[in-house]
Amino acid sequence: MEKQAKRIGIVNSGGDCAGMNAVLSAVVKTGVSLGYEFIGFRYGFEGVLNPARYIPMNLDTVRGISHLGGTILQTVNKGRFAAKVGAGEERRIPTEILEEAKSNIDRLGIEALIVIGGDGTQAGALQLQEEMGINIVAVPKSIDNDLRGTDRTFGLSTAVDIVTEAHGKIHSTAMSHDRVIIIEVMGRYTGWLALYGGLGGGSKVILIPEIPFKVENIVNFLRSRVEIGERSTVIAVAEGAKEKDMEKLATDNIGGTQEVHLGGIADYVMERIKQIAPNEFEMRTLVLGHLQRGGMPNAEDRILSYRYGVAAMNAVHNQNFGKMVCLRGGEIKMVDIREAVSGLKMVDPDSEIVRVARSIGVCFGD
Ligand code: F6P
Repeated sequence: MEKQAKRIGIVNSGGDCAGMNAVLSAVVKTGVSLGYEFIGFRYGFEGVLNPARYIPMNLDTVRGISHLGGTILQTVNKGRFAAKVGAGEERRIPTEILEEAKSNIDRLGIEALIVIGGDGTQAGALQLQEEMGINIVAVPKSIDNDLRGTDRTFGLSTAVDIVTEAHGKIHSTAMSHDRVIIIEVMGRYTGWLALYGGLGGGSKVILIPEIPFKVENIVNFLRSRVEIGERSTVIAVAEGAKEKDMEKLATDNIGGTQEVHLGGIADYVMERIKQIAPNEFEMRTLVLGHLQRGGMPNAEDRILSYRYGVAAMNAVHNQNFGKMVCLRGGEIKMVDIREAVSGLKMVDPDSEIVRVARSIGVCFGD
């Protein structure tokens, strides 16, 4: 009699980003050759809950998807399975929700779940493993790069390219009009995307949550540039950046089971500069928004996604559960999911990359 294939569930959850389809493709291709079959849940963990929404996944389903942005499974970054509400603040998922997920996973004969997601998603997955005994292998996804235990989440690199490219366009118009243009960059409570994108794009001022700024310092810096004949300046500001002594900038908390929605810092910085230096600079703002999550993965993200997908499937095959695949010093390794979600991975203000930026004259406003 033919041996029954082991069935694996795949969940991708949280905000979409470039590379998700490449992970799906790598998992399924690797798993099929090892004799597994797959169920892909739609809309993140919402699809694991009632009414369960899923599709069978096989070589046909993943054919020709790796270069596509977004995810063929679709996703949500809110809902009943949300495990984070703010900067690393945990929300325990109620037992009845975990039981509902377990009962659907068991009913479908699923032996392990590969969970592709960021901080909030993996915190929920960990709870599912610890409280319901579901076998989990995690894959770190996010344009925010804020998961601990890994040097990189996939999705960051493509988003950095998008921010860098936007800078190229903004520089020419800022320069033509002698303007200060403030670009608002995503990243939630960390400054990875603004730092790398701002540096890659040539921002002269980079404002990130890890280095609270003083508006007076920014104004003095802009004035010093005018003195040397540089009348235009591009500023990259992370959506979670804070003025010194300011509690936090969250314009809108949708509340309940959803994360705090950030946004508005570019306008805020512009207004604060106007207060201190009225009519001194002509300013405009640009919120890059969801452009940063869209489109095809660049080569770096696509390759990293393949590496993560293959490693995740191999971890399932080796029954190495409760782990997240990660990149450390250029090598793919495994780390406990618990470590990955133990807090946000922040930019170190004393790191080499920040020192490099300072050396070439970037102002952090501190
Ligand atoms: O976590 C990814 C991210 O893109 C953040 O950088 C941003 O704050 C948030 O998601 C935006 O979420 P939404 O898609 O709900 O607007």
